[in-house]
Amino acid sequence: MSYRMIMILSLLVQIGTSTNNIPDDFIFNGYLKLDGTAELGSDGLFNGYLKLDGTAELGSDGLFTISNSSRQESGHAFYNFPIHFKNSTNGSFSTSFIFAMVPEFRHLSGHGLAFVISPTKDLPGSLPSQYLGFFNAKNIGLSTNHILAVELDTLQSPEFNDINDNHVGIDINSLISIKSAPAGYFADKTGVFNNLSLASGNPMQVWVEYDGIHWQFNVTLSPINLPKPKQPLLSLALDLSPILLDYMYFGFSSSTGAFSTNHYILGWSFKLDGQAPQIDLSRLPKLPRNRQQNEDKHIKRILAIILPLIAFLILVVIIFGAFAMSRTKKIMEVLEDWEVQFGPHRFNYKDLFIATKGFKDKVLLGRGGFGRVYHGVLPTSNIQVAVKRVSHDSRQGMREFVAEIATIGRLRHPNLVRLLGYCRRNQELLLVYDFMPNGSLEKYLYGQLKGTLNWKQRFKIIRDIASGLFYLHQQWVQVIIHRDIKASNILIDNEFNGRLGDFGLAKLCDHGIDPQTSHVAGTLGYIAPEMARTGKASTSTDLFAFGAFMLEVVCGRRPVEPRASPDEVILIDWVFECLERGNILKAIDQQLGAEYVVEEAELILKLGLLCSHTIAAARPSMSTVVQYLEGEAQLPAEDLIYIIKSRDFSEAPKEQALLSISIPPIAISEPFISQGR
Ligand SMILES: *[C@@H]1O[C@H](CO)[C@@H](O)[C@H](O)[C@H]1NC(C)=O
Ligand SMILES: *[C@@H]1O[C@H](CO)[C@@H](O)[C@H](O)[C@H]1NC(C)=O
Ligand SMILES: *[C@@H]1O[C@H](CO)[C@@H](O)[C@H](O)[C@H]1NC(C)=O
Ligand SMILES: *[C@@H]1O[C@H](CO)[C@@H](O)[C@H](O)[C@H]1NC(C)=O
Ligand SMILES: *[C@@H]1O[C@H](CO)[C@@H](O)[C@H](O)[C@H]1NC(C)=O
Repeated sequence: MSYRMIMILSLLVQIGTSTNNIPDDFIFNGYLKLDGTAELGSDGLFNGYLKLDGTAELGSDGLFTISNSSRQESGHAFYNFPIHFKNSTNGSFSTSFIFAMVPEFRHLSGHGLAFVISPTKDLPGSLPSQYLGFFNAKNIGLSTNHILAVELDTLQSPEFNDINDNHVGIDINSLISIKSAPAGYFADKTGVFNNLSLASGNPMQVWVEYDGIHWQFNVTLSPINLPKPKQPLLSLALDLSPILLDYMYFGFSSSTGAFSTNHYILGWSFKLDGQAPQIDLSRLPKLPRNRQQNEDKHIKRILAIILPLIAFLILVVIIFGAFAMSRTKKIMEVLEDWEVQFGPHRFNYKDLFIATKGFKDKVLLGRGGFGRVYHGVLPTSNIQVAVKRVSHDSRQGMREFVAEIATIGRLRHPNLVRLLGYCRRNQELLLVYDFMPNGSLEKYLYGQLKGTLNWKQRFKIIRDIASGLFYLHQQWVQVIIHRDIKASNILIDNEFNGRLGDFGLAKLCDHGIDPQTSHVAGTLGYIAPEMARTGKASTSTDLFAFGAFMLEVVCGRRPVEPRASPDEVILIDWVFECLERGNILKAIDQQLGAEYVVEEAELILKLGLLCSHTIAAARPSMSTVVQYLEGEAQLPAEDLIYIIKSRDFSEAPKEQALLSISIPPIAISEPFISQGR
């Protein structure tokens, strides 16, 4: 353990002189350097102006050091000359100094430092520890001491009635302070008292001022970064004349007790009769630090480097995040709670965006009733898909919409176009389907590939679609009504199988629309009469459309052909007429020529008429249709008679008859999807 008192004093030593050549004001300001004009005597005197004793030493580095390896020591640093106090106005003086107390162990310091005015500069017989190096047990309290001190005490000594272990006191001839206060200062603006810790290791400034005329003795303390507070910490009405002798010495005394503390004086100014010169804070020496504080400082330094670095990294991450977000906002999406259950069916908007090259027209496959369809290649799997972009206004309906989409997504049948999943983004819905490279049947019937389908292929496609529709109507756990069976919704896969697409969408897009104002979903020529009246779809209305579709495939023309001759405008009526005339095969597509199987063609035409019967109850079920098509059952002759009998609308205009039939719907209107309703 070592105790040291270090005085770091000034390059600029300005000493005033009185007439008897004894200087009575001075300022030691800033760090002492050995390369300046100031000379440093090897006797430990600052050119003779300072007297150090006790453990005080002057190191070759220019530091005044009071050092000793033992504890319980004291040291003094006094101005070498006595001050002629009697020459001042009733002893008025002013002094200011900057000190720092750096304990070896934090929170364990002692005993303290004092500014002392004394008749001697070596304070003979004084003791360290609580005596602070300027009293001893014998002389304490004696009026013959003529000692005035301002103590900065960091240990509480009960025998001297110390108020705490961090106080400033005014002592006269004794260590029992005549007035003391916890260390601190009053803020100028607010008057609020702020605590200061004397032994914090931080430099602080003290002003000790005495006005001999008004008998005012003030002590003020403040951190060095603040100007002198207007309100002193201690202010006392005091007549110093009994204490001050004609000539007095003054300086500093400090002592340690059980714990080692370094006491530093970093600057000091003094003046008799007037304001002590200001200490130039910019020239204060740097404090040597002890090990612990060095470590603290290291940690602080490391933190000072690391913390901004971390903050910077966080900032970078945030900026990059924000940048990336703004960049991807275009393809961003929000998954709502209710969508979680449909998770597996949900596609990433980003993936679909990439797959379709940003929904470029170049990859547009077609424009359906519900939106545009794009060709896409999914990024990671390279699977080809068809992406249908459906715009949907009603947010309310979206949830049901997606629920139904999810149900449809579970359907698996070789004659259904598989719905792989969906993606919802705001009010836009994207449906992802298996890609059908051969496109829709419409292309083969009316488009570029018109007339290329042979009979076998046509018959196969009809059976395929019947199988798919049978699955929807009767084989799946819920009844699913397609609602929009027509050639353009039939797709041809790689192996030339017919696949039913877009099932359920008509219903979905019909959601939330007022039935009073709604137009009937479906396509002209495929709409069953009862549906035209009520707007209500059923498996039976699907059958009607399927019948029209069968006739369409076999006859190679649309169900309603405005440009045809009046007899032939409505396909069903035209086929019916052919049937009535006993030549039903006349209705067959001319492109086929004679390349068809007569029995099969007759079956399709008759079954088409039966399915498209104006009376719903007359229509067969899909299971029956499949049986006829697969040859498992024969189309009964009675059915045909029934058809002929029930169809007697020759008086009324054909189209009118189709739409105005007054027979109430007999077919059971089944819910589209029973789940969750
Ligand atoms: C410490 O200082 C005292 C008083 O000056 C002296 O007697 C003692 O020898 C010093 N001890 C060391 C180790 O310097
Ligand atoms: C006292 O100081 C004044 C200047 O402040 C000076 O003129 C005077 O000579 C001094 N007297 C003594 C006795 O030093
Ligand atoms: C000093 O104080 C005494 C009273 O204590 C007073 O009579 C005297 O005039 C004062 N001297 C000066 C120079 O003010
Ligand atoms: C100042 O210190 C005293 C005792 O050390 C304590 O009671 C008081 O709360 C402190 N005040 C502030 C503002 O820290
Ligand atoms: C002492 O402080 C008071 C304010 O409390 C002030 O009015 C007075 O001038 C001060 N005296 C000296 C000598 O600084």
